[in-house]
Amino acid sequence: MADLGARSTAEIRPATADDIPQILALSVVAGWPATTGESMALAIEDVDRLILVAIAGGTVVGWAKTHYWDQPDGQTPAGHYLGGITVAPIWRRRGVGTGLTQARLDWIWARDNFAWYVVNAGNGPSIRLHQQWGFVEMAQGSQFHGTTFTGGRGLLMRAGSKRITAGGAEE
Ligand SMILES: CC(C)(COP(=O)(O)OP(=O)(O)OC[C@H]1O[C@@H](n2cnc3c(N)ncnc32)[C@H](O)[C@@H]1OP(=O)(O)O)[C@@H](O)C(=O)NCCC(=O)NCCS
Repeated sequence: MADLGARSTAEIRPATADDIPQILALSVVAGWPATTGESMALAIEDVDRLILVAIAGGTVVGWAKTHYWDQPDGQTPAGHYLGGITVAPIWRRRGVGTGLTQARLDWIWARDNFAWYVVNAGNGPSIRLHQQWGFVEMAQGSQFHGTTFTGGRGLLMRAGSKRITAGGAEE
């Protein structure tokens, strides 16, 4: 599905229900067990979301999702959000996170001019990963759409598709 660039040999494709056990196992190994099989199954079925896996040697080595918020929550707008990404520790720094994110952004930007994500202010790897697409900080807060942050400070980030000028107008 996505061109991962030269560094990764993982294939990226939409997740299916059969992938759920490996997604959950990977999340535990990576220390991000923030989902359940039931919520994954619902997310995979949801046409307003994209759930992806990265596969190498028949194994899930990374996964990522989007989330669509149809209502704003205070300073946090409605829209399509990058809703989480996890790459197996031994597969990191090989382009898997980049591939999973490029594919989700292509999907979001086919539907909307802006993509959003929230991140713990202390998560340097994630912030650096997303800099590739020009994400800029729109707000800081202790919670966005109910997501809270270890340490108490999160960032709300936004990136526009190439159709959008720096001032936010559509070209
Ligand atoms: C963040 C995460 C998804 C990155 O995945 P990845 O497959 O290693 O990312 P990539 O290999 O595509 O990295 C692309 C670029 O991001 C930046 N980056 C990624 N990890 C980094 C790290 N640990 N330190 C500094 N920069 C990093 C680098 O610029 C990197 O390019 P480079 O390797 O040429 O220097 C992975 O570290 C992870 O699963 N972390 C735990 C879960 C998490 O924090 N999720 C994000 C929640 S918002």
